[in-house]
Amino acid sequence: MKNILITGGAGFIGSHLVRLMVTKYPHYNIINLDKLTYAGNLENLKDIEGRPNYTFIKGDICDIDLIPQLLRDKNIDGIIHLAAESHVDRSIKDPFAFANTNVIGTLNLLQAAKNYWGEFGREGFEGKLFYHVSTDEVYGSLEQEGTFFTEETKYDPHSPYSASKAASDHFVRAFHDTYGLPVVISNCSNNYGSFQFPEKLIPLFINNICNNKPLPVYGKGENVRDWLYVEDHAVAIDLIFHKGKTGDTYNIGGFNEWRNIDLIKVMIKTVDRLLGRPPGSSDSLITYVTDRAGHDLRYAIDSTKLNRELGWSPSLQFEEGLEKTVRWYLDNREWMERVTSGDYQAYYKQMYNR
Ligand SMILES: NC(=O)c1ccc[n+]([C@@H]2O[C@H](COP(=O)([O-])OP(=O)(O)OC[C@H]3O[C@@H](n4cnc5c(N)ncnc54)[C@H](O)[C@@H]3O)[C@@H](O)[C@H]2O)c1
Repeated sequence: MKNILITGGAGFIGSHLVRLMVTKYPHYNIINLDKLTYAGNLENLKDIEGRPNYTFIKGDICDIDLIPQLLRDKNIDGIIHLAAESHVDRSIKDPFAFANTNVIGTLNLLQAAKNYWGEFGREGFEGKLFYHVSTDEVYGSLEQEGTFFTEETKYDPHSPYSASKAASDHFVRAFHDTYGLPVVISNCSNNYGSFQFPEKLIPLFINNICNNKPLPVYGKGENVRDWLYVEDHAVAIDLIFHKGKTGDTYNIGGFNEWRNIDLIKVMIKTVDRLLGRPPGSSDSLITYVTDRAGHDLRYAIDSTKLNRELGWSPSLQFEEGLEKTVRWYLDNREWMERVTSGDYQAYYKQMYNR
């Protein structure tokens, strides 16, 4: 029996990972620790909440009493750490929240894991793993087409969000190099798919197109992002967790670059078609707004290492993934309404009677 702690499991990527692990590994105990900030939504995990190998715990990764206690009580032997403040725009408004959760929270988890697993010396690290889920944004911005972020690219973060993730990555490596803690890190490109909080581009715009609301495009919409279907990310995390080399970093991405404005036009076409609206009906919703401060021009991930060493590649072509995603948001408007109205937050209280 393995006891795996997943942090941030009620969020977008975390909920997909929790579902994958709970269903694929009935002999593992999956413990989902999440503070349920605005980004955490237990409704994302409704389908698995009664499973005997799944436990949810509401808690903060920054809590210096809770984390050591939890590792001991649940006899945790693997940690997959996703909990974070994740929205760049919010980091510009409140960088301290990002430093606190992303840096101090990660440090608290590392320290607790080191102390618990290494209580009787480094032999205790055998068979244990601290997996840190990070982002391609730590590498900064690429100017030229045809260049990619590799695992050797120097860190050059520009937003408070990416700076906080970069700092947490450095702490993870420092715990490996200094104390011998078994760690692995992955840096992934932009994810899209079901259950994403509608402050992020794809769900926000799908929702706005449906409701004939403006689509605010930063600058001229020329920023380029590399998009990966969230379930492919979860599969990659599972693979790296089980087969990745301790101490290593793996880049995850789909070689799938889109200029924001081109992506938005595809979304408009897809939503209009699926809603039976005449082509071009929603084109006028595009509204150019002042560019985001410190906006990185281009991200593009080279995930050759992950493919070569562990045989991973994305399962979906982007057009297929986007169509699936748009259909999901159209078919789950009630989910969207509950999120945008704030009703989703009552679900936890009603579920757990608190
Ligand atoms: N979304 C992406 O495109 C993307 C790409 C690459 C990497 N990542 C990384 O993947 C991870 C998950 O991203 P996401 O998009 O699912 O984020 P998200 O914002 O959807 O979810 C974050 C989750 O963490 C929880 N959380 C926040 N602070 C916490 C705390 N102090 N203690 C416990 N739980 C807390 C929230 O309640 C939420 O459930 C993050 O570390 C992010 O940096 C995201």
